[in-house]
Amino acid sequence: MSLSRKGIEDLKLYVPGRPIDEVKKQYGIDDVIKLASNENPLGASPAAVRAIIEAASNVNMYPDPISAKLCERLSKNLNVQPSQIMVSNGMDNVLLLITEAFVNEGDEVLTCAPSFDTYRISTIVMGGKFKTVPLKNHRFDLNALADAITEKTKMVFVCNPNNPTGTIVTKAEVEEFMAKIPTHVIVVFDEAYYEFVDNTEYAQGMKYVHENRNVIVGRTFSKLYGLAGTRVGYAIAPAHIMNILKRTLAPFPVNILGQAAALAAADDFEFIENTLKLNRAGKEYLMAEFAKLGFDSSDANGNFIWTDTHRDGRELEQKLLQRGIIIRAGYLWGFDTHLRVSIGTLEQCERLIKTLKEIL
Ligand SMILES: Cc1ncc(COP(=O)(O)O)c(C=O)c1O
Repeated sequence: MSLSRKGIEDLKLYVPGRPIDEVKKQYGIDDVIKLASNENPLGASPAAVRAIIEAASNVNMYPDPISAKLCERLSKNLNVQPSQIMVSNGMDNVLLLITEAFVNEGDEVLTCAPSFDTYRISTIVMGGKFKTVPLKNHRFDLNALADAITEKTKMVFVCNPNNPTGTIVTKAEVEEFMAKIPTHVIVVFDEAYYEFVDNTEYAQGMKYVHENRNVIVGRTFSKLYGLAGTRVGYAIAPAHIMNILKRTLAPFPVNILGQAAALAAADDFEFIENTLKLNRAGKEYLMAEFAKLGFDSSDANGNFIWTDTHRDGRELEQKLLQRGIIIRAGYLWGFDTHLRVSIGTLEQCERLIKTLKEIL
């Protein structure tokens, strides 16, 4: 008899980007760059690093269980009550708490494929049935998603911008979609990359939080603020949803260093501006260079680019690895000729293009 809960044995493990040290060791290269996990190439917000150092002497104490100061700070920009925000140990953990709070065994959870893999894991862990409809032209197909909703559907994840493709759904598309959502369904908008979006048609899920719909918006300090290593993510929801969601929170989910870092980073406007500027420049450069190489890139709205190389992506990934560049090949998501490349510093981007030219 199996000791595991139903479904766990068949649950495929999440495949993360490879760590720099591992690649250094395997290939005997000192100078390895990672453009694989959509981290901030500028590093962390310097204000956050100072705050971590200051907070370090307090780590003998348990942290504030609800990250109250951070909720207060975030609530100002979001125009919600601090109690409508739940901060936890990275948005990955927030996503799991969301399914813990709402997904019963046998409930259907819908999203498009490919998208962020944690939706699958979080659903199956709870005994939910994970169902996907394909992206259309690498974009979330909200019409197909709405059509796939049944009376068994409990939750729909909308990743906007979508990881791995970087594409967005627009205000008009989401408005039409939300009009079709029945009251037994919760829509989760994963907006891990929303700060990077320049397109004015981009739809933020906050509109529906303010309308008191059955929605949750997820965000993170991992990307724009350069705090992936501190693991701080959060959910925003109307009170009737948040009151349920918060019950799943662990006693002290965000450590003292993470709370201090996120609070300081939220006001580090210089770092935010520098990150956005660098991302725009890197995106423009890579999009143009990929086009010159004959690659077809999807509309990139995050800090990464999804591009069709029209060649074996796995082989390219390997050859780049051997030359000290970690990217992610699209086969992981069922796209054999695609690559997902995080936008690095200009120097890193130039090295990537130079190396690709050598390989090709
Ligand atoms: C779409 C998406 N959602 C959530 C996350 C998780 O973010 P966090 O680092 O806060 O766990 C990521 C991280 O890559 C992501 O790409």
